Amino acid sequence: MNAEEPDFIRTTRASYDAMAPDYADRFPDGLATRPLDRALVTAFAELVRAHGTAPVADLGCGPGHATARLHTLGVPVFGVDVSPRMVALARRTHPDLRFHVGTMTALDLPPETLGGIAALFSVVHVPEEHLPTVFGEFHRVLNPGGHALVAFETGDDDHRHLVEGLGHETALDHYWHGPDTVTAHLTKAGLQVRAQTLLEPDGAGRRQRAYVLARKPGDEAR
Ligand SMILES: C[S@@+](CC[C@H](N)C(=O)[O-])C[C@H]1O[C@@H](n2cnc3c(N)ncnc32)[C@H](O)[C@@H]1O
Repeated sequence: MNAEEPDFIRTTRASYDAMAPDYADRFPDGLATRPLDRALVTAFAELVRAHGTAPVADLGCGPGHATARLHTLGVPVFGVDVSPRMVALARRTHPDLRFHVGTMTALDLPPETLGGIAALFSVVHVPEEHLPTVFGEFHRVLNPGGHALVAFETGDDDHRHLVEGLGHETALDHYWHGPDTVTAHLTKAGLQVRAQTLLEPDGAGRRQRAYVLARKPGDEAR
């Protein structure tokens, strides 16, 4: 695609393209079986709905589970994913919803057009040194008062490189950012962190999940 695109975008795209045919079977909708995660996404939907009718982007939407849930909750949502095959899977699964290929490091959106951003388990593929770019994009495209919900599996800022995923060859990096690292980068990007929630692992071999809710300031007079 773009000659200047960082390597991690290229390898993430290729890895998810390779896994896409098997992804939906292996990873069914986690929000359907996790009431606490669902509650946080539902609260996010309520916050963005209360603020207006501007569209919401589900960034790194994968097969579109959260996109569909937000739609059901009355949010005018579309999905964006860096992997064309994941986007094709999302479109097949949810033909009534809109999905686009794109990267959260360089969003193809004008400034101040979104009422909200959901980025669920997608910044795990962004190295820390690129978080300022990603959250700078969040700040640029959000309307004043718009909310961002960022979810990620967390650890002690460590890292895993996956050379095989779902039986396919991959070159996929996972960065287990700490909640304080994500919060610090969101704050530096100009967003106000409203909540940081840590959910304990819900099975053997699983990680803690962090949800950070942030808001773009600037509409206080409204
Ligand atoms: C672990 S999956 C999560 C999918 C979905 N959000 C969910 O929670 O079920 C991560 C998704 O993020 C996408 N992704 C990773 N880096 C991205 C980027 N820079 N921009 C857009 N999508 C990205 C991947 O292609 C993949 O579909």
